[in-house]
Amino acid sequence: MKLSALVLGFAVLAAPAFAGPTEGGAIFETKCMMCHGSGVANAPLVDKLAALDNQKIIDALTTPIPMMAGVTSTLSDEDKRNIAVFLTKKSLPAAGGLPEVKAQ
Ligand code: HEC
Repeated sequence: MKLSALVLGFAVLAAPAFAGPTEGGAIFETKCMMCHGSGVANAPLVDKLAALDNQKIIDALTTPIPMMAGVTSTLSDEDKRNIAVFLTKKSLPAAGGLPEVKAQ
């Protein structure tokens, strides 16, 4: 819990430079790593997620498997885009009124 708070704190500090993917990374640490860091119930590991398309990740967060629904229900569309770019390191163009998310 303390570590998560620290990670989040750094993300906020770093916000002016790279708000999008940095924020996505902080969310991933706190809400996704517990499964995707260790492969709980065959959850794909981070390098597998990194190889997906941004849209595939956004879709998986929008229509999640039941196991993931608890953590995805609190995510905004912007959060989902930030998480996708954090994982894939591929930029997302502006869409649906949301700003471009630049890969770091
Ligand atoms: C409770 C454990 C758990 C948590 C928490 C969790 N996931 Fe998952 N996730 C899974 C499992 C298990 C699968 C594999 C589902 C399958 O293949 O049927 C999965 C699948 C996915 C997929 C689809 C992969 C593919 O190849 O289609 C993505 C993307 C994903 N998770 C991202 C996330 C993100 C981002 C978060 C945090 C917001 C998250 N997950 C939180 C367990 C979890």
